[in-house]
Amino acid sequence: MLDKLGWRKSDKQDQSLQKQIDTLRQQRVPNHIAIIMDGNGRWAKQRALPRFVGHREGMHNVRRITRAANAIGIKVITLYAFSTENWKRPSSEVEFLMHLPEEFLADFLPELMELNIRVEMIGEMEGLPQYTSRAVRNAMEETKNNTGMVLNFAFNYGSRREIVLAVQRIAKLVQDGKLETTAITEEIICEQLMTAKIGDPDLLIRTSGEFRLSNFLLWQLAYTEFWFTNIHWPEFRAEHLYEAVIDYQKRNRRFGGLKGE
Ligand code: FPP
Repeated sequence: MLDKLGWRKSDKQDQSLQKQIDTLRQQRVPNHIAIIMDGNGRWAKQRALPRFVGHREGMHNVRRITRAANAIGIKVITLYAFSTENWKRPSSEVEFLMHLPEEFLADFLPELMELNIRVEMIGEMEGLPQYTSRAVRNAMEETKNNTGMVLNFAFNYGSRREIVLAVQRIAKLVQDGKLETTAITEEIICEQLMTAKIGDPDLLIRTSGEFRLSNFLLWQLAYTEFWFTNIHWPEFRAEHLYEAVIDYQKRNRRFGGLKGE
């Protein structure tokens, strides 16, 4: 059973977690958080376990963090689960990662319905094995009328590829005489990106001590606040998410201007 914040008993809410929630609720929480879930492999290596164990542990952690984000009223959480570059990994690892959406959604979909969470995906369905695209499409269809948080997976996603596709579509509009070159604005570009309905993240988190964007949301992160941690994704918990949010709330976002928000 879930309590009114959407927590399960297994997500033990100790006093310090409750204190963090109380602190962060005193100010506005970010609408949209994007996460580069890095470090599954290193987490496994540290324990002399195969890499796939790290990925499975990472998958379980997606549930925890989804609940934790939902509990504080985040509107969208975008998770980088498989990049266009990840195809370069050994085929056995790619295959394992391709099965994760199926495994995750088979298990978690009833709870997503209970929490009124909508599943979305950015990235290309084309090129995914049928079992992967079927699982994601099914979850998107099942949850399409949910009105709560959006759980947005970046899967088979690459930002440069996304921009190339957007440019191709805009060029076609110009070629067909439907758009003047001079009418191409930032808004027109945003409309052609995969995030058109989702918008830009307010906060980006990257786990596992790397300071790179790895071809993630390059356009959309223009004014996003960044938060990095050395913690590997399988060990990243609600308390770390809340620490990032509290840190975000202390920052003064000027969007190139002089005043705060
Ligand atoms: C990067 O860590 C992580 C990935 C490429 C995969 C991320 C996937 C998950 C966390 C699970 C996704 C869950 C669903 C439901 C789709 P890495 O393997 O590069 O770690 P390393 O840098 O330590 O080797």
